Amino acid sequence: TPPEQIRNFCIIAHIDHGKSTLADRMLQITGVVEPRQMRAQYLDRMDIERERGITIKSQAVRMPWAADVGDGQDVFALNMIDTPGHVDFTYEVSRSLAACEGAVLLVDAAQGIEAQTLANLYLAMENDLAIIPVLNKIDLPAAQPEKYAEELAGLIGCDPGDVLKVSGKTGEGVEALLDEIVAQLPPPEGRPEAPARAMIFDSVYDTYRGVVTYVRVVDGTLNPRERIEMMSTKATHDLLELGIISPEPLPSKGLGVGEVGYLITGVKDVRQSKVGDTVTTSARPAESPIGGYKDPRPMVFSGLYPIDGSDYPTLRDALDKLKLNDAALAYEPETSAALGFGFRVGFLGLLHLEIVRERLEREFDLDLISTQPNVVYEVTMEDGTDVRVTNPSEFPYGKVGEIREPIVRATILAPSEYIGAIMELCQSKRGQLGGMDYLSEDRVEMRYTLPLAEIVFDFFDQLKSKTRGYASLDYQEAGDQVADLVKVDILLQGETVDAFSAVVHKDKAYAYGTSMAGKLKELIPRQQFEVPIQAAIGSRIIARENIRAIRKDVLSKCYGGDISRKRKLLEKQKEGKKRMKNIGTVEVPQEAFVAALSSD
Ligand code: GTP
Repeated sequence: TPPEQIRNFCIIAHIDHGKSTLADRMLQITGVVEPRQMRAQYLDRMDIERERGITIKSQAVRMPWAADVGDGQDVFALNMIDTPGHVDFTYEVSRSLAACEGAVLLVDAAQGIEAQTLANLYLAMENDLAIIPVLNKIDLPAAQPEKYAEELAGLIGCDPGDVLKVSGKTGEGVEALLDEIVAQLPPPEGRPEAPARAMIFDSVYDTYRGVVTYVRVVDGTLNPRERIEMMSTKATHDLLELGIISPEPLPSKGLGVGEVGYLITGVKDVRQSKVGDTVTTSARPAESPIGGYKDPRPMVFSGLYPIDGSDYPTLRDALDKLKLNDAALAYEPETSAALGFGFRVGFLGLLHLEIVRERLEREFDLDLISTQPNVVYEVTMEDGTDVRVTNPSEFPYGKVGEIREPIVRATILAPSEYIGAIMELCQSKRGQLGGMDYLSEDRVEMRYTLPLAEIVFDFFDQLKSKTRGYASLDYQEAGDQVADLVKVDILLQGETVDAFSAVVHKDKAYAYGTSMAGKLKELIPRQQFEVPIQAAIGSRIIARENIRAIRKDVLSKCYGGDISRKRKLLEKQKEGKKRMKNIGTVEVPQEAFVAALSSD
């Protein structure tokens, strides 16, 4: 297809504003999917995605669309590139956007603009995309298309009359939207004769075919059977197949300027095909890559341990398998005195953590304990050595010079009556107000810089409860800052329990210590002797609780006599002990760890 007849676009929207429904409707109206094969949310492949209604992996579908041109009609190829919808995947979103010339900015006509709408809009603007503003769900009785058209027009600086109104559900207005995509978005530009350059915006592991790489060709042409080169690593692979998706893979004879499609090389690991990387050919390599490549970097770490120690090899195999499909997943073995053998696993963010954990439990049938998520700290010692801490229990002792923690730039959108509550919350989380704008009389956008550590804790839940669910949040990493942090240890009878060590701000150390000690006091059963629970910073004790002694004599219940009953009881007690972990001489039931580590 010549570039003039190609339009590459994506749909950007806040979660639940109806992106998948609209995408499905477009596939149906353009005849790519027959109504009877229409399976809800065609683009979302994985079960978990469907169940949670979120999109994790971006993909691209080509749709033919006949539109009016000056002297009659032409058939255009519309490439719809799906963007992941959550804050953890900002980098993947930005690469998907970079593969497009334009974006449909979709807003629920009953909700108005939300934080994710804005965050994605800013990303689209950074990528110089043409924006088509669209209100969705106009069939809803609660829709206020006039009010929100004005809000949207004010935001992007257009006339309220230029805001399109559609319903992904009934299909109303969707054909007009397809026409506008052709009319308003520029065709792709590139140099057809130049050495080939294509940007990878996604790669997915497929059990049968190995890694399927999604690319957008910028310059030149990629042809089947060529040897291709990944420009970040110089690794070369034979191109076994290339083609377009519509809606199933369709091999083609070549991909030219502006085209979007897939490549198959037979590699088995998505890390060989990195999002953001540039593909060129070995025969005639391009001089420089397309800009914007970044290595995926885990931001949040958590220890994952099998509840049943004998599941450790299964957990290891499961992580190896997941990694084939998830370039951002990083892990290494770890042992904990309290929890046994497990892994320290790095994630892009909290949602990523939840998804991985859920897949491990569901697809590999594992029962897991995960430790409290933590961020990465960079510590510079007084002697100048640098330490990178991904596990609080490994926080260095001794002469610490400076500690840096990651920060994020957060966008919060809420009705203006909650400004006070939000400011209070953000201040208590060490937030710095960067600016505030009214989107309309009663809705406000607040921009904060916050430590990521405070967000991974329970920020989102608190924000929701303080604003009765009306606030929305989005954030992006924004470097790091020096902070006054300390490591708090929890000791049981003088022994540090590694799983409970945490790095917290100095002002919050006491609160963390007392709450953890209090929780453990409730959760750990009484022992034959008194057990002190202490919270400490270094050698300084900051909180203390006691578990009082009890003489747990199971035999006293037997009133002497019946020997077989006695034996049974003793055996039962022994079995109970199996699920206990010993911290020094203290026996702690595994449930106590699980409960203490769950966040509430
Ligand atoms: P994520 O993939 O989680 O970002 O969600 P999404 O934006 O793709 O939203 P989705 O298409 O899953 O729609 C969210 C909800 O809104 C679903 O319950 C849809 O049935 C509903 N919905 C979507 N479009 C319309 C519409 O035009 N009208 C009405 N009434 N409901 C709609």
